[in-house]
Amino acid sequence: MSKTIIISNRLPVQLQISDGGLSAIPSVGGLATGMKSVHSGGESLWIGWSGLTDEDIPDGLSETIDSALKEHGCSKVRLTKDDVDGFYFGFSNRTIWPLFHYFLEYSEFELDFWDSYKSVNQKFADAILEEAGDDDIIWIHDYQLMLVPQMVKEKRPNATIGFFLHIPFPSYEIFRTLPWREEVLEGLLGADLIGFHTYDYERHFLSSVRRLLGLDVSFNDVYLENRVIKVDSFPMGIDYDKFHKAAKKSSALKGKQRSDLQIKLDEHKKSAPDTKLIVSIDRLDYSKGIAKRINAFEYFLNKYPEYKEKVRLIILAVPSRSNVPQYKLLKREIDELVGRINGELSTVNWTPIWYFYRSLPFENLIDLYTSSDIAWLTPLRDGMNLVAKEYVATRTDKTGVLILSEMAGSAYEMNEALLINPNNFEQQADTLKQAITMPKEEQIARNMFLQNRLKRYNVEVWANEFMNSLKTQGQDIGTYVSQ
Ligand code: ADP
Ligand code: G6P
Repeated sequence: MSKTIIISNRLPVQLQISDGGLSAIPSVGGLATGMKSVHSGGESLWIGWSGLTDEDIPDGLSETIDSALKEHGCSKVRLTKDDVDGFYFGFSNRTIWPLFHYFLEYSEFELDFWDSYKSVNQKFADAILEEAGDDDIIWIHDYQLMLVPQMVKEKRPNATIGFFLHIPFPSYEIFRTLPWREEVLEGLLGADLIGFHTYDYERHFLSSVRRLLGLDVSFNDVYLENRVIKVDSFPMGIDYDKFHKAAKKSSALKGKQRSDLQIKLDEHKKSAPDTKLIVSIDRLDYSKGIAKRINAFEYFLNKYPEYKEKVRLIILAVPSRSNVPQYKLLKREIDELVGRINGELSTVNWTPIWYFYRSLPFENLIDLYTSSDIAWLTPLRDGMNLVAKEYVATRTDKTGVLILSEMAGSAYEMNEALLINPNNFEQQADTLKQAITMPKEEQIARNMFLQNRLKRYNVEVWANEFMNSLKTQGQDIGTYVSQ
């Protein structure tokens, strides 16, 4: 029977070795949280990096690691510390990530990073070639592995290969600054189907293909000598039922069964019922606009001082890529900003910002979503932003207001949210006021539309649409190859 091989740098679990032995923790990030639902439901093998380098793994533990991963339907690609430094912290996160998120000034064009990216992509391709049978479908994910499609296609011309990019594809004007732009495009074109979250990313990609490689492009087909590649947009959904049901369960629990965080949030509601809770949840990443959001919050409190002691901003930031200098600097900037604003504005009864720098277990995340009157998400650029969708899915009584940046891919599907430009403080201050004072009926009306859409276009539908399109594309492979 044919199976689907999912391949991404990040597996759904990360392994850690401590005094207590080997443990697996869930990975954070849209790719892992979204694909996890697809993977657990079906016949698939997920290949990726375990989070441990060869140097981290003591002699004799490799087999234990293999069986731990096998329990999760996963198999590992072995990476050395040098691989991780050059490929992951280097080319993936100091070159491609900033460039594709329009942070051109952060993007470093280092030959060593590129060499490492090529050699590690080859390791992933080899892992696929070792595991994949002739009838298997290969689904490659994200910006860390853009050369893998071509590397696999060269060895297995008949293989059906899909690629999905979870981050934006930038406009041609940005993309063309990359010294290895042709190689990256050619790498991607090894796939039979290339998927993006939005039509705009798809259009940017096609424009780069036409202008940089001079290939024929008709609608969303790219013509190579002996192959046709389909390019399309598939906006990723969430596991709506999982979030909705978890939220129902959380509100039904009483007394001791409630999590510590929920108890604290409940106490807060009791002691200050008029104080509105505004939540923001992201990886600590400059693309998420966290520092600007904090500044905008200060601007709001100065513009509308009547809301002092009446609102609280909860910032949950999960540690991410902390070896990359820009992330270190950002961490420091946020620590200082929160410290300064809380120092200047706090009163005996009120701290304006609660800041948590950690990953939360799923139940706690749900507690935070369900307890917050407003979710305020301000990415400066974001491929999709699943947090926006998760917040709406947990609002079981349909109340709650979502304020969302226009620069997030999810904004295209979430018109009923209050959409803002994260660089416009004036607009955000007014929008926060609008959210705080929005009548319940209006909240319900907006969320009803949003929930219906999220329910219909959930992550399963997303995966099925991609797979069906890939299978259709795969049926034609033999025809082209034999011509
Ligand atoms: P990105 O993929 O860029 O990180 P998304 O918003 O698409 O952004 O996805 C983030 C995912 O990580 C969501 O599924 C969210 O629930 C999860 N997440 C974010 N912050 C935390 C946290 N502090 N603890 C646990 N999960 C988190
Ligand atoms: C985004 C990327 C993913 C990545 C995730 C977490 O969602 O699209 O590919 O896995 O961020 O980042 P990390 O660097 O920890 O894998």
